[in-house]
Amino acid sequence: MSNEVYIIGAGETKFGELWDKSLRNLAVEAGLKAVEDAGIYSKDIDAIYGANSLAGIINMQENIGALIADFSGLSTEGIPSLRVESSTASGGAALRDAYLSIKSGEYDVVVVGGVEKMTDIHGSDILEKSSSILDREWEAFFGATPAAMAALIARKYMHDFGVEKEALSMFSVNDHLNGSKNPDAQFRNKLTIQQAMNSTAVADPLNMMDCSPMSDGAAAVVLASESFIKKNKREGVRILSSAVAEDYLSVGSRKSIYTLNSTKLAVEKALRKSGIKRNDISFMEVHDSFSIFGLLELEDLGFAEKGKAKDLVYDEIKLNGSIPVNPSGGLKAKGDPYGAVGVGQAVDAYRQLKGKAGDNQIKDAKYALLHNMAGTGTSSIIHILGE
Ligand code: COA
Repeated sequence: MSNEVYIIGAGETKFGELWDKSLRNLAVEAGLKAVEDAGIYSKDIDAIYGANSLAGIINMQENIGALIADFSGLSTEGIPSLRVESSTASGGAALRDAYLSIKSGEYDVVVVGGVEKMTDIHGSDILEKSSSILDREWEAFFGATPAAMAALIARKYMHDFGVEKEALSMFSVNDHLNGSKNPDAQFRNKLTIQQAMNSTAVADPLNMMDCSPMSDGAAAVVLASESFIKKNKREGVRILSSAVAEDYLSVGSRKSIYTLNSTKLAVEKALRKSGIKRNDISFMEVHDSFSIFGLLELEDLGFAEKGKAKDLVYDEIKLNGSIPVNPSGGLKAKGDPYGAVGVGQAVDAYRQLKGKAGDNQIKDAKYALLHNMAGTGTSSIIHILGE
């Protein structure tokens, strides 16, 4: 038995400012939707992996694994339920851990969830806490925020390659266009290029439309082994490969501040293990927490040479382009609930590959590449999904 791993069910909450729902409400809502979609029962579940980044400092709630199991009504079953934390890549990390647990033969059915509740605090409070994903001593201590670090990277990149601000804004325009058709997205308004370029400054050259928002939300998928799906006559979407790589925590330590080395390394590993080629990828969900990262990711994932992503952002990344990017609306429009993002990408890709993505459906979608990144590029986790 080759121990292939499949996604057999998916569910998520809406992403956004969800003041009427608590951390636990969100986690349970997404988990139950995924379990229902998979058509499984609690007796089938071998383990739960719950992703979360900042609940300890935002919501004063640690012990997320137990919280999820308890409020899903699974505590009496004694099902192992562990939290996975890897900053904004927590979701991808949980997906990978669950995948490996089935691949190893340890489990047959695992529920992977991701949850974050960021809008209960605001202003400088949320900025300080969300900046804890940076290097505290060398970056955040001096007042740097993720937006400030992304702005430094953007400024140097635009200078060295003669890239105009319009190219960055186009990435957000594409996200909002796709998000406008995603019922779970935080922002469903379309953006014109003028609106994107003229919005309020955040950290020059980045403005509000270059930034992902602070979001609440949760997502979950159910993974199952090949033997489970054969025995129970289920159909799933296969996880062809999973790969992760790390870079320096502090941007200043990197050889090139506009090269996401973790992304470059992870994508090569993921492609090699999947047995498919870049050209086979039907669409990608990438971790564009800031528009500049969207462009760098296109390059470091190997779809454009360094400095040339600007040639893709007008047409090629659209739903009907040569390499559709973020059909879900991406982090800019769908939203950025840190720990839920990587799992949310898997929910969207599962729906696309099952032909159930509604108005955002990509014709003949066969293979998806999911890129979930921690902070400013410290780790990148890549999953390739397909038949
Ligand atoms: N895009 C579009 N609209 C946004 C937005 C964004 N990124 N962020 C907030 N808004 C909207 C809100 O929905 C709200 O709209 P409303 O008045 O219609 O309700 C309005 O702008 C004000 O929201 P508020 O939360 O007060 O914004 P803010 O000025 O405090 O924060 C940012 C805006 C962009 C600074 C903040 O979202 C941010 O810091 N984003 C970056 C997140 C981050 O660091 N991620 C790190 C990943 S590594």
